Amino acid sequence: MSVKALIFDLDGVLTDTAKYHYLAWKKLADELGFYFDEDINELLKGVSRINSFEIILQKNNASQKFTPAEKEALANKKNEYYKEMIEQLTPDDILEGIVPFITEARKNGVKCAVASISKNAPRVLQLLKISDLFDYIADAALVKKPKPDPEIFLTCANALGFEPCECIGIEDAQAGIESIHAAGMTSVGINVAVTSVKPDIALKSTRELDFEKICNRND
Ligand code: BG6
Ligand code: MG
Repeated sequence: MSVKALIFDLDGVLTDTAKYHYLAWKKLADELGFYFDEDINELLKGVSRINSFEIILQKNNASQKFTPAEKEALANKKNEYYKEMIEQLTPDDILEGIVPFITEARKNGVKCAVASISKNAPRVLQLLKISDLFDYIADAALVKKPKPDPEIFLTCANALGFEPCECIGIEDAQAGIESIHAAGMTSVGINVAVTSVKPDIALKSTRELDFEKICNRND
């Protein structure tokens, strides 16, 4: 199989924004008197904003406490905290190994895309100053079915004009690995806390991303 495209998740793959998502949810949870810790935060990786809030409510036996409109408003409040926090991101926050890996891919004619369900993805990429490295950035607002559904990875493959089997997806979350597999693509997992399906290529960190090893495999 010849690899035509690399499709990257953002949070936890291109940069470590999980800590800001954590801090923003923690601030909201503290205000509401809810319990929230790193273990619960792990369950939110790759999960949409509103579904993340539902998980926090569920963990606090409070699923029925708010109307859908109130839930929306509270999730938006978290987003305001998050938006304020990410303004401190700079190119120094790009995870190690990412820029050389993408540069090598582009040199070899391999296209690159971003498949993030974060509505803040364009701003994060802008702050990291890497928007120009990508041929396509999926619009999270248009995604109807979040990961683990394959929709966002298929949208990227389609936009680039390639078959799923010609694409490799790179993810740090279990929901993301499932999404890549459901799309019929090869998956690279970055330090995934595996609870179900395993990534095809499991790496501990983005430092291990090696263009030759990942894109010129003979299997
Ligand atoms: C994912 C993160 O990339 O984006 C999740 O892993 C987050 O933690 C989701 O909830 C949605 O992000 P946002 O920025 O639209 O609230
Ligand atoms: Mg992620």
